[in-house]
Amino acid sequence: MTAPALRVRQINPVLGAEISGVDLSQDLSDETIGQIRQALLDHLVIFFRDQEIDYDQHKAFGRRFGSLHVHPRAPSPEGHPELLVIHADENSKRVAGQGWHSDVSCDETPPMGSILHLTQVPDTGGDTLFANMYAAYEALSKPMKHFLEGLSARHESAHIYRGNYYKNAQGARDEQPSNLHPVVRTHPETGRRALFVNSAFTTRIDGLTRGESKSLLNYLFHHIENPALQVRFQWRPNSIAFWDNRCTQHLAVFDYWPKVRHGVRVTIEGDRPYFDSEDAQRKAS
Ligand code: SIN
Repeated sequence: MTAPALRVRQINPVLGAEISGVDLSQDLSDETIGQIRQALLDHLVIFFRDQEIDYDQHKAFGRRFGSLHVHPRAPSPEGHPELLVIHADENSKRVAGQGWHSDVSCDETPPMGSILHLTQVPDTGGDTLFANMYAAYEALSKPMKHFLEGLSARHESAHIYRGNYYKNAQGARDEQPSNLHPVVRTHPETGRRALFVNSAFTTRIDGLTRGESKSLLNYLFHHIENPALQVRFQWRPNSIAFWDNRCTQHLAVFDYWPKVRHGVRVTIEGDRPYFDSEDAQRKAS
């Protein structure tokens, strides 16, 4: 099988590229999947346009990058527990992903990536913002980096899974994961360091007083909101965004009520986050 001529067009200096010349409904060669994975590692979030894929094709594409995560509480289409429904309409008061986050970072092994396919979008609005967590880490001063590097933070879910979006999901499992992860993690494939706290799931920095933890987390949450770390994606029907949860955060802008925005996401399982020593960093670079 010859690999199609896949084109990668960087759309922003800090993160994000659009990929064309590939039809994700097809069974792609290992070479093409390798190129897509490399584009994801290089650009952190990649976008595809005009992809008419059904649920099975979406799952098949996701599985080329790892096992699929099944969310304990989010709604999914009948018979497809690995798909997570993203939906908003005139009855929505809030939408999933409205705050900055890395998907289910509360899990012991948070996902490596997520692939969202939207089939219905408002004519304007409903964009998604993505932020580069390598750049967020690199923008910190040397003493701050040094201070954060040995710390862990608690990521919880109970406060999120109480929300309406999660309440009535069919087959919901009563799980409320809570785990400690390093505040700065080493990306297992690139060896680069990334800030790994987010305002949705991260509740406390371990070992600090409540006041210290609150102030530091607020500082870091504010720090990642710098527009210079971000790209903003405008959806069209049948666009796909594929992001790396290990080195990005994202936020769904809810500015289009009462219009409909709809699609599904697969989430690819990842590893337990770790912080590596200088030695491992040097080897990886
Ligand atoms: C999410 O997966 O967090 C939702 C992103 C979006 O709806 O744009």
